[in-house]
Amino acid sequence: MAAAARRGPVPGGEKRIMCVGLVCLDIISVVEAYPAEDSDIRCMSQRWQRGGNASNSCTVLALLGVPCAFMGSLATGHAADFIVADFRRRGVDVTHVAWQPCGDVPCACCVVSVASGTRTIVLYDTNLPDVTARDFEQVDLSQYKWIHWEARNAAEQAVMMQRVEQYNRARPPEDRVRTSVELEKPREEHLLLMGLGDVVFISKDLAQHFGYRSAPEALQGLRSRVQPGATLICAWAEEGADAIGPGGELVHSDAFPPETLVDTLGAGDTFNAAVIFALSAGKTLQDAITFGCRIAGRKCGIQGFDGIV
Ligand code: ADP
Ligand code: FRU
Repeated sequence: MAAAARRGPVPGGEKRIMCVGLVCLDIISVVEAYPAEDSDIRCMSQRWQRGGNASNSCTVLALLGVPCAFMGSLATGHAADFIVADFRRRGVDVTHVAWQPCGDVPCACCVVSVASGTRTIVLYDTNLPDVTARDFEQVDLSQYKWIHWEARNAAEQAVMMQRVEQYNRARPPEDRVRTSVELEKPREEHLLLMGLGDVVFISKDLAQHFGYRSAPEALQGLRSRVQPGATLICAWAEEGADAIGPGGELVHSDAFPPETLVDTLGAGDTFNAAVIFALSAGKTLQDAITFGCRIAGRKCGIQGFDGIV
């Protein structure tokens, strides 16, 4: 579908998926091996890439062929010009970007090591205000089949999620908007979002912060925090991912390691998008996490996102 066709009312009634969260500029240096502190080295290649979890997930959804929209903050300037042009190139709807009158567009210096496949990120994300529940009131929920939040300003995001819950209450199942939330950073204030949403993604980082040593252990320990009927999913890098469904069923997928580990930047965002894509298309939880691991594995074998499907 052409990028232009994805803006405005959805043609043929095809509903979209929205991701709410961070967009930033990633300045990525690909190095042979991770440098020593205070060294002065040359990198193999360098590129600018649109980054941020919600933004990366939009890239993946667009590559999977789903009409999708991004909601997050930007402030005018060179970085935002680059970011918006890149969203448009991918056909991601940016109508709901909140343009902030002050603050800097977040920017990350990322070092991707070819020797180890690691990605080391130093993010500057300090003074750009996040989107608010008030901004979210402008969203016409009837256009969306799924809305995903990357946990940030949790109190505001909880109000956004409650708005969707309320909208759903008055509608038949086929018209409801499904919701998901990703808790990546071990921040106390984010935990309130665990009790909201149909699908909750928790990161290995968060699980380890709680003292869990594996994904199944984390799911068993944290399942009581999600609302009844929700699904809890935990990805665990090269060990794949595990999930616990609405009825308490546990599922697991192994990872799909690429022949050569090239670039893991955004692997988790790729996994989340692919799982959302599969669940929103009616796939089982087992099939969805297997698909998520398959697409994330492919991503780890290439630089950037082109070529994951
Ligand atoms: P992130 O650190 O980007 O949030 P995760 O480590 O949670 O990502 O990994 C998400 C998914 O990406 C995993 O479930 C797995 O399928 C895939 N993945 C990540 N790292 C690797 C790896 N080294 N080899 C194979 N697959 C990987
Ligand atoms: C990858 C990523 C990068 C960004 C960083 C922000 O998951 O979204 O694109 O620099 O994480 O935390």
